[in-house]
Order: sequence, then C-alpha cells, then structure tokens
Amino acid sequence: MVTRVATVAFEGIEARAVDVQVQIAAGIVAFNVVGLADKAVAESRERVRSALIASGLALPAKRITVNLAPADLPKEGSHYDLPIALAVMGAIGALPADALAGYCVLGELALDGTITPVAGVLPAAMAANERGLGLICPAACGPEAAWAAGDMDVLAPRSLIQLANHFKGSQVMARPQPAIAAAGGPLPDLRDIKGQEGAKRALEIAAAGGHNLLMNGPPGAGKSMLAARLPSILPALSPRELLEVSMIQSVAGQIKGGALSNRRPFRQPHHSASMAALVGGGLNARPGEISLAHGGVLFLDELPEFVPQVLDSLRQPMETGEVMIARANHRVTYPARFQLVAAMNPCRCGQALEPGYACRRGPNERCMAQYGARISGPLLDRIDLRIEVGAVTAADLILPPPAEGSREAATRVAAARERQTARYAERDLGSAMTNATCPATVIEEVAAPDAEGTTLIRNAAETMRLSARGFHRTLRVARTLADLDGEATVRRLHLAEALSYRARASKPAAT
Ligand SMILES: Nc1ncnc2c1ncn2[C@@H]1O[C@H](COP(=O)(O)OP(=O)(O)OP(=O)(O)O)[C@@H](O)[C@H]1O
Ligand SMILES: [Mg+2]
Repeated sequence: MVTRVATVAFEGIEARAVDVQVQIAAGIVAFNVVGLADKAVAESRERVRSALIASGLALPAKRITVNLAPADLPKEGSHYDLPIALAVMGAIGALPADALAGYCVLGELALDGTITPVAGVLPAAMAANERGLGLICPAACGPEAAWAAGDMDVLAPRSLIQLANHFKGSQVMARPQPAIAAAGGPLPDLRDIKGQEGAKRALEIAAAGGHNLLMNGPPGAGKSMLAARLPSILPALSPRELLEVSMIQSVAGQIKGGALSNRRPFRQPHHSASMAALVGGGLNARPGEISLAHGGVLFLDELPEFVPQVLDSLRQPMETGEVMIARANHRVTYPARFQLVAAMNPCRCGQALEPGYACRRGPNERCMAQYGARISGPLLDRIDLRIEVGAVTAADLILPPPAEGSREAATRVAAARERQTARYAERDLGSAMTNATCPATVIEEVAAPDAEGTTLIRNAAETMRLSARGFHRTLRVARTLADLDGEATVRRLHLAEALSYRARASKPAAT
C-alpha cells in the first residue's frame, strides 16, 4: 500500500504541489528517497529515522521507498523531512490513515523529534489554501502561515509527538494567530540633518512618487545620513503589498519568529556585492537584494564602487519590475519592483564640485569623468532625480535643529501616495501603483500639462535632448510634484522643477 502526503516545491515564490509517496514492502531492509532530490533532501532520511526513534517509533525491518512526485521537478531544501516522516508514520499505523488527507505539510526535523523552522511557509500556506487544504508547519512558522486565510486549518506542532497526540485527540492544538513584528525602535529622523533643504525636498519627492534618486556630493555632506532617513518618511505597506513582500522574505528565510513586518523593505548591500547576491540566483536559486527590496528601497551607497557589470544587471529589472534567473537546471522569476536610491562622490578625491578645489589628478573634469565612467549612461537615464548634495557649512551646523522632522514630511508623502492610489485604482491598475511605475501611456494621460507647461517641455526636450524615457520620467516627477501640491493638473512650475533634477546631473557629464 502507498501512503501519500501533500507538500510543495518552490519555483521562485510559487509553491508547486509535490506528492510524498511512501511504500513499505517486504524485501532487503532499506530506506530510499527518489524523485530528483538534492543533497539536503537525500540526507533527510537520516533525520527522519532518528526523529522517529526519538519519538518512540521504530522503523519496520522492511524496504521503505519514498518517492517525491512529480519526479521531473527539482526538490531543494530541508522542508521535506516532516512530510516524509508523517507519511512513514501513516504507513506504519502510528497516525490514523485519513488524518493527513486534508493537509499540506512542510518542516524540518531535529534528531530528537522536534520540528524546526523552514523557509517558504507563507507561499506554501497560500498554495495549500488555494487547493482547499490545511497546513501542518513548524510551531515557529505558525503565525506566518495563519496570514494565508482567516478560516484555514493550520497546525503548528513543536514535535512529532505533539502532532500524534493532536490526531489521537489527547492534546488538541490551537490555531496559531497571525503576528506583526514589533517596530524595532524609532527610525532615524530627518530632523537630525542640518541644512540640506534641497536634498530633503528631493528625498520627499522620491518617497512620494517612488522615484529613483542619485545623490552626488563631497564626503561628509550627509548623503548616507539622508538615505538612512528615507524609511522614516515612506508610507507603511498596504495589506496586499505586505503579503507580496512577505512571500519573498519567506522564501529567502528572512522572517524571524513567524511575524511579518509592515515596514517597507530598505536594503543596503555593500559595494562588494556579487551579481548573484544582487539579482538573485546562485547554487540554490534564492531571491537577491533587488527582490528583497521589492515594494521598498534598494540603497546603493558609493555607487561607482560597485562592479559596473553588476550595476548594469539592474537595468532590465528596473524597467520590468521582475527578474528572471535562468541557469542550467532551473529558471525562476522573482518580483523586483524597487526604488533605487544611490549616493556617490563626484570623483575619486571627492571634492571636484567644491568651488576652488583642484583635483590632484586634475583637471577636475577629467577626474570626475574617470570616476563617473563606471556608471553607464542607460543606468543614469533610469534615475529621475539626480541631485548635488553640497558640503554643509559650519554656519548650518551650529543652527538649532530644523522645525520640521520626518513626521511632517511623512504626512505629505502619505497624502500624495493616497492621491496616486485613488487615481490608478480608478483605472484598474492595482493598488501598489505609483507615478514611477505606472505605464507610459497612462502617465501621458494623467500628467498632461497645461498649455504653458506643454511649451516648456517641448522646448526642453529639444535643448536637453531628452530620450523618450527621459521625457516620460520628467512627466512622472512633475505628476508627483503636482500630487504633493494637491493639484489635479500638472503645471509649468512642476515641469520646471522636474526638469531641473535632470539638468543638474547632466551638467558634470557634459563638461
Ligand atoms: N547636514 C548634516 N547635519 C548634521 N550632521 C551632518 C550633516 N552632514 C553630515 N553630518 C555628519 O557627518 C557624518 C557623515 O555623514 P555621511 O556619512 O552621511 O556623509 P556622506 O555624504 O555619506 O559621505 P561619504 O561620501 O564619505 O560617504 C554624519 O554621521 C554626521 O555626523
Ligand atoms: Mg556615505
């Protein structure tokens, strides 16, 4: 007889149905796992054997065969321990035969029979719910699974014995409750930054419309400091976004204690990051930093120090909002709709833009061109807001802290985002849409400028030689500026400010 237990295999953030089949037959004593299993899965028989023994169950002296079907789908990870153990327990009669029929199962086993946390519980729970099944997962992941649906049957046992007792009816487990991670202390506040009003304004615009931002300035001007304060003005995740973002974190094994976080992701990989670390992939396909930043911010400090090839690998995901990783044995797609915020010095000496400073490897222009050449033109073209962050003067530093902090800016940002959400929901474009991500055809319509504005952008497109992308991106920023002002039409003044963020940055490159 064959005992079956449902589990899943992950392809990107999709959980595909996998059937664990166990047969116990007469023959040479053996315990084999077949079905395109990787090393962690093959090793699971040792953990299963020990965990069953520790739970007081001896394996029969027979031939045990475990098949993971479909056999052509690669199986990775350690979450097959629990379904295999439960199928074996079903086969030897340690669990009632029909107990497992309505469940999808995943979890890792320790040698003493306790069930340890695994990655991917949230997508597995969503997939199980769609198939009309309940879920059995590790206790630590229970709160995560409970997010999938309010009425879904979720069992989160600590050990094999606890689960067996539940099915016998001697110790019935309660359904875990969905949890939100407690906010980890206050975020750094914009009020800490003296002066830099222009940069703060740009940061606010970037937050309001989800625009990409590049800050260029001398060392110690406060660029890293500004970027670190972006999370404090970003709007909280909507419930739909929360699930979407958490699915990726779940697959990456980044959800601690089963509690989801409603803070927008803010990822800041070091500039030594490899291509696989940034875009995803590697030996076992894992989401990269750009996918972990989905719905939030990817902050690249010291942009020109990144490997140019790695930077250029961001170009395609920045346009499409997802990344497809193709390797010899797998092909997966991860969502990657992130907002890029980057900081850099104008040249290697760092001071080229300071009045009166002469670079050691002068002239200044050459020093800047050499350093800036590490960033490709097409990547720069994707950055809507490019600003210069000048050095702060001593006069600024001795001023009292500014009256406005993150709270005031966050209120304006939230209002601007609400206007965008309402506008794009009217056009059935989904709730997570921002001015930066909405399709070009729609932006032409919703950011159509008044007559004066049209003349301005027509002239500017010619004199600044805007690319088609540059043209649309200017409209996007102008739309955000109008949203911040609470205005329905984009006016000349919005366009002029939007154009200034492009012009300023193209200046050093042109000289
Ligand atoms: N506008 C400012 N107001 C208050 N303190 C500031 C300001 N700018 C810089 N500082 C101080 O200088 C320190 C360095 O700033 P930060 O690390 O942000 O500089 P940076 O522009 O990122 O420099 P680099 O280009 O070298 O990375 C801060 O920790 C802070 O103490
Ligand atoms: Mg810095």
